[in-house]
Amino acid sequence: MTEHAVNPALHALNTRRSMKLLRAPAPKPDELAQILQAAMSAPDHGALRPWRFVKIQGEAIGRFADVALDAVKRSGDPRMTPEKEKAVRSWMAGVPLFLALAAKIDHSSKVREQEQVLATGAAVMNILNATHMLGYGAFWSTGLGTYVEEVQEILGLDPLDYRFMGYLAIGTPACAVPPVTRPDYQDFITEWTGEPVQAG
Ligand SMILES: Cc1cc2nc3c(=O)[nH]c(=O)nc-3n(C[C@H](O)[C@H](O)[C@H](O)COP(=O)(O)O)c2cc1C
Repeated sequence: MTEHAVNPALHALNTRRSMKLLRAPAPKPDELAQILQAAMSAPDHGALRPWRFVKIQGEAIGRFADVALDAVKRSGDPRMTPEKEKAVRSWMAGVPLFLALAAKIDHSSKVREQEQVLATGAAVMNILNATHMLGYGAFWSTGLGTYVEEVQEILGLDPLDYRFMGYLAIGTPACAVPPVTRPDYQDFITEWTGEPVQAG
């Protein structure tokens, strides 16, 4: 790609990468406020503000690990072996802040559920970018019983009304953030010039 003068905002977007191994400190309260406020700028059909976040921090993380892992085991998920449980607990113990992510669906709206979920995904993306811009790391995970209804209910996210979208782990990267090579956008774009496109 041709080199351009690097716009600082674009540079920030292009250097974000997910960091799973995190430790304290988490963003300070005023920084977290800025990060969460960035979520409010997501595109939002019908101004429904469907995004909901449940903050889990401090000792609540250990308690949440206990109840979520118990629920996952009760659900009979064969992937939750003792080794996996140990690894998940050890990972969670290092992370200073989790945000559970959900879209609260307005069933009476003409705006389709898919669009409400997409708006919430866009809000989560703003959180990921804002976290990176303030020098912290984050990781979106759909582990920890995201698809186990009991876990959603523990968090106050009744599956009838909420589409649970997993968690963001947020903190300070536990190691240097390695640079990442991203694909070339040109491999993902075509142009429609007015003629029907042959299927295939
Ligand atoms: C909705 C969603 C759920 C995800 N869940 C997981 C997960 O459970 N486990 C995992 O290893 N990565 C998961 N990922 C991928 C990571 O968050 C991350 O995007 C991926 O490791 C690539 O890193 P990058 O964001 O720097 O490109 C998920 C991503 C999204 C968008």
